[in-house]
Amino acid sequence: MAEIHSKSSLLTLAILPLFVIFCINFIVAVDGKSQTFGRVLNPTKLGLKKEKLSHFRMYWHDVVAGPKPTAVVVAKAPTTSKSTNYFGGVVMIDDALTEGPQLSSKLIGRAQGFYASAGIHEAATLVNMNFAFMVGKYNGSTLSIMGRDKTLSPGVREMPIVGGAGVFRFARGYVQLRTHRMNLTSGDTTIEYNIYVFH
Ligand SMILES: *[C@@H]1O[C@H](CO)[C@@H](O)[C@H](O)[C@H]1NC(C)=O
Ligand SMILES: *[C@@H]1O[C@H](CO)[C@@H](O)[C@H](O)[C@H]1NC(C)=O
Repeated sequence: MAEIHSKSSLLTLAILPLFVIFCINFIVAVDGKSQTFGRVLNPTKLGLKKEKLSHFRMYWHDVVAGPKPTAVVVAKAPTTSKSTNYFGGVVMIDDALTEGPQLSSKLIGRAQGFYASAGIHEAATLVNMNFAFMVGKYNGSTLSIMGRDKTLSPGVREMPIVGGAGVFRFARGYVQLRTHRMNLTSGDTTIEYNIYVFH
């Protein structure tokens, strides 16, 4: 019995310092004052209002032909031109976003970014762009969209909204897109965008 007792005392002596160190670490971690790089903020102090859900509809115009293209090829692989789906091609865009389906209708903003052919066996692009708004209280604010578009699909596609700035701070949501018009000779395309966003 005595031997067992002394063994457990030794064990307690060995564990006690570890326990004390653990407690000190725990207290330091819980005490926010020990951190200088981060703190908890009240959302109203940032001027944040109650989150709302907004819907916008607009038309995106990809002009590739003519003297003033808004979509230009900036990179491709040696094999891209021979690929049925133009795999590896990267196109930089500064496309007009308008209220109506005609390019001449009211300008709401511009879609700036790029899309890249990311499908070997199907026409699928990686789209990475910012919708820069230019009207009313949205002027100067942006929504960032990144997703996959099956460009030749006649149906509705969907891409995530990954964030936003200005009135769209903390944005999350999705866009639904449907090709409105495509000129297979020139490549010029108009796509209807329906945006659903919490912000
Ligand atoms: C949008 O903001 C820019 C820069 O602040 C300004 O020049 C332009 O007039 C504004 N446009 C509208 C429609 O308010
Ligand atoms: C399609 O593009 C070609 C070449 O730019 C042009 O000649 C033709 O008029 C366009 N078709 C339509 C319906 O706009």
